[in-house]
Amino acid sequence: MEQDGNELKAVTMGAARALARSSASNVSIYLPGDAGGEPVLYRGAGIGLPNVNYRRLEASGLDHLLIDAEELRRCERALESELADILFDPTIDANDKAACAQQVGVNVARDFLAAGRPADHMDRAARLVDTLIDGVLRDRQVAGTLLNMSAHHQSTASHLFAVGALSTMLAFEILGDQPEKLRAIAMAGMLHDLGKMSLGAEILSKSTPLTAEEMLLIRQHPIESVRLLGDDPNASESVRLMILQHHERFDGRGYPLGLRADEVELGSRIIAVTDAFHAMIGKRDYRHEFSPIEAVAKMRFQVGAQFDPRVFEAWENLFRRSFSSVDRVLDYSIDDTAETGPGYHVDHQGARKTAIDRKTPRHACPQPIKARCLRTGRLPGVSGVWGKIECPIRDVSRSGACIDLTAPMYRGEVVSVMLDTGKGEQWIRAVVRWCRRGDVEGWRYQAGIQFMHRVSAAEAHSDQPMLGLSVDDEVLVVT
Ligand SMILES: [Fe+2]
Ligand SMILES: [Fe+2]
Repeated sequence: MEQDGNELKAVTMGAARALARSSASNVSIYLPGDAGGEPVLYRGAGIGLPNVNYRRLEASGLDHLLIDAEELRRCERALESELADILFDPTIDANDKAACAQQVGVNVARDFLAAGRPADHMDRAARLVDTLIDGVLRDRQVAGTLLNMSAHHQSTASHLFAVGALSTMLAFEILGDQPEKLRAIAMAGMLHDLGKMSLGAEILSKSTPLTAEEMLLIRQHPIESVRLLGDDPNASESVRLMILQHHERFDGRGYPLGLRADEVELGSRIIAVTDAFHAMIGKRDYRHEFSPIEAVAKMRFQVGAQFDPRVFEAWENLFRRSFSSVDRVLDYSIDDTAETGPGYHVDHQGARKTAIDRKTPRHACPQPIKARCLRTGRLPGVSGVWGKIECPIRDVSRSGACIDLTAPMYRGEVVSVMLDTGKGEQWIRAVVRWCRRGDVEGWRYQAGIQFMHRVSAAEAHSDQPMLGLSVDDEVLVVT
């Protein structure tokens, strides 16, 4: 996109907020034009990123700004060189620190991928890794926020940075304060998939099964990553080994060499866990993305096969601690998944009282679940009283219902719900909008459901096992 001969780059609101911390944040800012029209100058240089009213812009539906490419470059570089100061500044809060680290990390990884010659950026990566080790690992809150943030960034560059940062945290959990080893693992994490640059985009984004030939090519990428590093002194022998082995498995069924257990470098066993985690929480054409807690629950089935049990145990500890330190995330412990089977009824960071847009993947709820109605539609809350509630269906269709549950549900799960409308039973299909810890004894969770459409009793039963909810009162066990 161009404006007055200058190239403009799109910058997300989150990135703009982080860049506002830089000393070169004095950039000209443009807003995208309506319906693909010309960009409009919003703030000339002199006002700069710190003085943008982000809330107002976001409220108006904007998700990015446009900044002159040259000025943006300068601003990004300034943030990168000032990152250490930012991380050590006690007046800056953990969220801002993590956002700045994320921003710098993704920029460095992006330049790696774009350069074709990673060597040009190795010094930057090494500096970043040192800064992260000094500034992030010692601050649990920043580390936790960064871990949480990694769930929302899904480009290739952000994958490299996320695996680098997560691996460093996990290594710290296992090894403690051993800067040399941490540095090597961080570098290996940041560079592990560099070799994918040599693979065509068609292969990487393919949603159909890979041919044997394509599979062979993909299996070369750890070797290719090491080859691309050339003889750069920033990548030590152990960094290269870790990269080479990041797809080896604990049971020896990995590639390229089929090494097993302790034959595989500890750093590679660490990267295997964080790499799989970050890949799972990313969206793919052929499946929905997993929530972080869902991903960890699913990964647990691979302990002893794909993952080293000792490393995975440390990962669960780190994960549980870090995620519960972030207020946006509910404190469902990972053990909650044991109660209802793996992978289902586990909530994630999206559990907020916001509407689920139409693109959100929806999945039938496959587990029996107990529920009772707390309130519905415009009827007043009946907390503590479980008498009969007669409910016109329009109340549910207008504003949904709030229900008590014995197990957490996944945001976006679809339930079939039976309402007692006072004129007989009526089945509806509804989607879970949010789920959080409940405070009623015996009912550990509370969920909000959003009306989708009516269904006949036969349709309601034709699907997966479902939730029968009577607003009548009482507990309903659903089969
Ligand atoms: Fe890989
Ligand atoms: Fe990877």
